[in-house]
Amino acid sequence: MPSNALPPGPKGTFLGGSLRAFNEQRLDFFLRVAREYGDIASFRFGPRRMFLVSHPDLIEQVLVTDAKHYIKHFGARAYKPVLGNGLVTSEGDFWLRQRRLAQPAFLKNRVASYAPVMGDLTRAMLAKWRPGQAVNVHEEFSTLTSAIALKTLFGLDDPGDRHAFVESLRLAFDLLGERFRDLVKVPLWLPTRRNRRTKRAIAELYRVVDGFIAQGRGRSEPGDDLLSRLVSARDDDGSRMTDTQLREEAMTLYLAGHETTALTLTWGWYLLATHPAAEARLAEEWVRVLAGRAPTPDDLPNLPYTDAVITEAMRVYPPVYLIGREATCDLELGGYRVRKGTTIFMCQWVSHRDPRHFGPDPEAFRPERWLDGLAKRIPKYAYYPFGGGPRVCIGNTFALMEAAILLATVGQRYRFTLDPGAVVDFSPGITLLPTYGIPATLAPR
Ligand code: HEM
Repeated sequence: MPSNALPPGPKGTFLGGSLRAFNEQRLDFFLRVAREYGDIASFRFGPRRMFLVSHPDLIEQVLVTDAKHYIKHFGARAYKPVLGNGLVTSEGDFWLRQRRLAQPAFLKNRVASYAPVMGDLTRAMLAKWRPGQAVNVHEEFSTLTSAIALKTLFGLDDPGDRHAFVESLRLAFDLLGERFRDLVKVPLWLPTRRNRRTKRAIAELYRVVDGFIAQGRGRSEPGDDLLSRLVSARDDDGSRMTDTQLREEAMTLYLAGHETTALTLTWGWYLLATHPAAEARLAEEWVRVLAGRAPTPDDLPNLPYTDAVITEAMRVYPPVYLIGREATCDLELGGYRVRKGTTIFMCQWVSHRDPRHFGPDPEAFRPERWLDGLAKRIPKYAYYPFGGGPRVCIGNTFALMEAAILLATVGQRYRFTLDPGAVVDFSPGITLLPTYGIPATLAPR
C-alpha cells in the first residue's frame, strides 16, 4: 500500500511554497532538495504539488514503466502557444502518429547524410575567423547550429529572414518564460501589454516559418532536407501532415535541436579551455586518427576520446537539465501515493552529480571516466541527457554526430583561450544557458 503521506521536503512560504527559491537559484534549489530530503522529495509551487525524484529506478518508473500514465508537465505546456502540437508538446495518439511519421527521418544513415552540410557550414565559419580574434563561444556555436538546422530542416542556404526569425523566437520565448514564472497566470487571450507583445512575436514567427516551408515546397526537385521528408511522410492509412502540423513540427525541431547542440559545444569548449590536459589528449586523438582531414561519420567510432568529452560535457553541464511530467491518475512511486495532477521533476543537474554513480568528486570534468565501460556499470537512468522511454529525444543521433563533427572540425584549427576576467554563470531556462556567454580568444592550433 503506498503511503498517503507526502515525501519529505521544504515547506517554503505560505503562498508561493518554494517558487521563490526555484526562481532565484533553481539549480542549487534542486540539488539542495535532493541532498537534504533524499531520492523522493516534495514541495509546492503555489498550489501545485511537485515531487523531485533522484533515484535511477524511480526515474525509469516515470519515464518508461508508467509512461502512459504521465503527460508533459505544466512548464512544457507553457510553450504550446509557440510549439502547438509539435512533437515536444503533443500527447496521446496524436503524438504517436507524428512520432511515427518523423522517426524514419532520424534513422542513423539518414542522419549521416547531413554530415557534409555540418562540415561545410563549420568551415564557412572558420574561414571568417582570425587568430587572436575575440569571440563569444556561445554566440558562435548558436549561429552555426542555427544555420545547420535551417539548412538540414528547410534546405535553406541563405535564409534572408533568419535574423527576424531568431529575434522573434527569442522574444516569444522570453515573454512565455516570464509568464511561466508568474504565480498567477493571466490568460493569453486577455489584451495586456505583455500578451499583445507575445502574440505579435508568435505571429511574426509563423510568418517566417510559413515562408521557409513555402520556399521548400516551391523547389522543383524535392530536397533531402528534413522538412521535405516530413512533407512526403505517410502514415499507414496514407494520410500526411497538414500545413499547420508541418509548421509546428518544423518549429519544434528547429527549437529542440539547435540550442541544445550549441550548448553541448559551448560548455564543452569552456570545460576544455579550463582543463588543458583533456584538451591536449583530444588534439592528439585528432592528429592520430584524422591527420588534418575533415571528420566523417565513419571516423566517429575511431574517436573514443572525442565521444567521452561530449558525454562528460553533457554530464557536468546537461543542456536539458530538467524533465517534468504530470500524473494523469493516482499512482504509486517510491512507496508514496502520487495524486492525479502532481508534477514529477527529474533533474539531470542533480542526477549527473550523484556521488553514488560518479565517484567522490562528481563535479570534476574527467572524460576518462567513460573510457572503461562506466556507461554499462551505472544504472540506465543515472545519466540521461536525452531523457528516456517513449518520449526520448528523437534527435539524439543527430545531436551526437553534429557535436562530434563540429568539435573535431573546429578543434583541429583552433582552441579557445578564456578571457582572464570572464564571469561564467548559468541562466537555466528550458536549457542551461551561460548568462554572459563565454568570452574567449581564438588561438591557432
Ligand atoms: C545535445 C543536444 C540535445 C539534447 C541534450 C536534447 C535533449 C532532449 C531531452 C532531454 C528530451 C526529452 C524531454 C522530455 O522527456 O520531456 C528531448 C526531446 C526531444 N528532442 Fe532533443 N535534445 C538534443 C538535440 C535534439 C535535436 C538535434 C533534435 C532534432 C533535430 C531534437 C528534437 C527533439 C524532439 C522532437 C523531442 C521530443 C520527442 C518526443 O516527445 O517525441 N533534440 N530532447
